[in-house]
Amino acid sequence: MKILDFGSLNLDTVYRVDHIVQPGETLLPLFVRSYCGGKGLNQSIAIARAGCQVFHAGRVGPDGSRLLDQLKEAGVDVHLVETVEARTGHTVIQVDSQGQNAILLFGGANRVIEKTFIDRTLKGFRKGDMLVLQNEISEVAYLIQRGSERGMRICFNASPADAALVQYPLHLVHTLLVNEIEGSTLAGTDDPDRIVDVLIAQGYGKEVVLTLGKRGVLFGDGKRKFRFKSFSVPVVDTTGAGDTFTGFYLAGVARGLDAESCLLYATAAASICVTRAGAAESIPDWEETAAFLSSGSLPDGPKP
Ligand code: RIB
Repeated sequence: MKILDFGSLNLDTVYRVDHIVQPGETLLPLFVRSYCGGKGLNQSIAIARAGCQVFHAGRVGPDGSRLLDQLKEAGVDVHLVETVEARTGHTVIQVDSQGQNAILLFGGANRVIEKTFIDRTLKGFRKGDMLVLQNEISEVAYLIQRGSERGMRICFNASPADAALVQYPLHLVHTLLVNEIEGSTLAGTDDPDRIVDVLIAQGYGKEVVLTLGKRGVLFGDGKRKFRFKSFSVPVVDTTGAGDTFTGFYLAGVARGLDAESCLLYATAAASICVTRAGAAESIPDWEETAAFLSSGSLPDGPKP
């Protein structure tokens, strides 16, 4: 099974703040850092660090070479990433004293992905290969459609939620990963159990993984539904935790693990991620995650 992640690449500028700035307020940040990010890039790096080969497709501008370097350093194949005449996607992220974030996202080159690029990229993949998608690039609905026509296993992290989400052909998705905001946008209810039931009943994914932050994860596949607990860790920065979870969950699937083991590794990896600053930089590898699971002690990582 080959894994293709067709996804966003962003330059993240992260401001550490006491609290998220309010309308009309001027706030001095404690400090600022520049990181590699984008849900697509973060998920590719998580998949690679979890020990699987992954091809990343997407677009950056001439100012995006740092993102390609970071992907390559993690072992991600970047020959399907194109450099175009547009600004690289970028964000302004505030992280508060609790580790919670607020993200302003400029799509840039991520939003000029068009059908011809998708068609020529998907030619290299076939039935049984995995197509990993998030909701930060243009033409997501087309990607789901064309990937499904090729017999690829569509794994969609519906993040971030927007108005277009409900128009996507989600009945073609195999693995749907949502948080509570995306889940309630799609299911029309805030109740976690109901979200999973409604999404499965609507055929939005053969399996649904609903992440609930500190309250863990709810998994359903129509035959069974169960909750998986999170680990209690000191939170420094939650940015990229959802992407780490997604990448490790899908890497677990590619490694042939059962759903419980995939969830265990994904939850542990995301827990390590939140103890560190930044997005891609804070993603652990499979060995660190396994060591955390067997010893319960946290590995070291980048500090804010
Ligand atoms: O999920 C975290 C990511 O969301 C950040 O890296 C930022 O780029 C935004 O896309």
